[in-house]
Amino acid sequence: MSVRGLFITVEGGEGVGKSTNIAFLESFLSGHGVELVVTREPGGTSLGEDIRQLLLEPRPEPVDPLAELLLMFAARAQHISERIEPALAAGKWVLCDRFTDATYAYQSGGRGLDSGAVRGLEQIVQGVLRPDYTLLFDAPVSTGMARARGRGELDRFEQEQVEFFERVRSTYLQLARESSGRFRIIDASLPLEKVQDALLKIAGELLACWSVRHGSSD
Ligand code: TMP
Repeated sequence: MSVRGLFITVEGGEGVGKSTNIAFLESFLSGHGVELVVTREPGGTSLGEDIRQLLLEPRPEPVDPLAELLLMFAARAQHISERIEPALAAGKWVLCDRFTDATYAYQSGGRGLDSGAVRGLEQIVQGVLRPDYTLLFDAPVSTGMARARGRGELDRFEQEQVEFFERVRSTYLQLARESSGRFRIIDASLPLEKVQDALLKIAGELLACWSVRHGSSD
């Protein structure tokens, strides 16, 4: 039986540079022989990408926060059973652009839903599955929003007001304080090369954790 892969999630507000840095991390880890599945939420499967489309496109009617929450977890349930679990069980690492911390940050922090509702669904949909590591890219809201606006048309979330993103950011930072063993905070307001130096340090830590996991299974 192969050693279970590492489950790494990447989080942060809008425009913090997740995509560029995920590509950088992917190429570094692949270069070190890690078999890696890179994926995202909402999305990552055919059904999940359809749900993503529903969630992100601006709509004429207000979307009920509970409907939004349930769609996030519907996409997640499919993602876990179709891609995440099989990859981890086969010893591959999974690098996932957003996961349930985003639901706490956006649907509970941002939209104001009770975090107990998120926790209940997390239990039902994930069972014991939790990320091994979470990389939180943190930057002042104004920096991230300016970058997101520079990318062109805004999706339904990006159209939210600054107060919404302040709540998202403070929820992420609170989650990081509560689970400091799992979270690594990266200052995404620094120049790219400094961000990538920080990422390389973390990647070294992940590789060390992996070799311990391998060693203890021999
Ligand atoms: P992305 O543009 O970073 O890929 O994320 C899509 C949007 O979905 C982003 O604005 C955050 C939002 N989102 C939630 O609101 N809750 C969630 O659980 C996830 C995974 C994403």
